[in-house]
Amino acid sequence: MRPEFLAAFERAATGKTLAFEDILALLPATAAERPLLYRLADQVRAQTMGETIYLRGIIEFSNYCSRNCLYCGLRRDNRELVRYRMTGPEIIAAARVAADRGIETIVLQSGEDGGYPAAELARTIKALKAELAVTVTLSAGDRSRADYVLWRQAGADRYLLKHETADARLFSRLRPGTGLAGRLTRLGWLQALGYQTGAGNIVGLPGQTLAMLARDILLLRRLKVTMAGIGPFIAHAATPLAGCPNGDPALTLNVLAVTRLVLPGAYLPATTALASIDPAGREQALQAGANVVMVNMTPPAYREHYFLYPGKAGSTLTPVENLEQILSLIHNLRGRKAGDQDGRANC
Ligand code: 5AD
Ligand code: SF4
Repeated sequence: MRPEFLAAFERAATGKTLAFEDILALLPATAAERPLLYRLADQVRAQTMGETIYLRGIIEFSNYCSRNCLYCGLRRDNRELVRYRMTGPEIIAAARVAADRGIETIVLQSGEDGGYPAAELARTIKALKAELAVTVTLSAGDRSRADYVLWRQAGADRYLLKHETADARLFSRLRPGTGLAGRLTRLGWLQALGYQTGAGNIVGLPGQTLAMLARDILLLRRLKVTMAGIGPFIAHAATPLAGCPNGDPALTLNVLAVTRLVLPGAYLPATTALASIDPAGREQALQAGANVVMVNMTPPAYREHYFLYPGKAGSTLTPVENLEQILSLIHNLRGRKAGDQDGRANC
């Protein structure tokens, strides 16, 4: 094992605040070092967050997007994609399938779809709160402050806005026409409006370095996020990054585990992207610091069109099959239980 890894590991294990150099020493953990890192992250997760794996039902309600991110299949210039928008009643019906099975948090995700009227989404949020009494998380990208206000007033509880990369130059190169500063301004608005806020980053983006990943983690700490989604880059054939190498699943787990050490109380999902490039990814993530799973509840007629990247895990299963697969995975993890936001086991 590398001496710099052991020194940083020792600081983490004794509860010291990790500095940039410590994070940089932990991130490239080798095959020999990883078991140590993952075990510590698992212990920290157990001590601060307990044994519950929180299930969120995700409904991908629109795949229209006005942005042209180089990595993403929903980008505006992808003409191969069949575009769809779900109506309010369709969203509520999909959420009901999740709520009926004990899932108490619904994540409504879309591309940056300015054509989806904010007021229509607000009506749906109100109906979800009134009829199903679920926690509502939104993940609809950059919108106006007025839209965020409207949705918060309608009852939305949380907002996920991944910062994608904390490197301003890489951000602008991969997300043309937008900047990291604007993203951070929006995260500030969301927090000030009382949303529980989530960010997160992609691991293995072309041009990304370990130092940039260390800065991703430090940014998450500075933002004091409640949640952080960390998944590998997956090359999509209909994007300008076609043919680029995918992110490394082991490095993704390292980033996740170090994030757990730096943010002991955060909700960290075992991401669908990781499960998509590594069949054991979800299980490994749940044993390396993760404590959340997003269950895809998008109706089968639409889900194949929410094509962010190829091989998306669970995309051929129905919502209920998806849930059952995840419950059985959790069942096989000793000592863990699936639960709702209060930590009561519900499945
Ligand atoms: N690889 C990995 N993650 C991706 N996302 C979009 N495209 C890709 C890709 N090719 C992620 C982004 C976005 C979320 C909806 O999906 O992080 O925030
Ligand atoms: Fe649109 Fe988000 Fe994909 Fe960018 S990452 S193209 S904003 S859906």
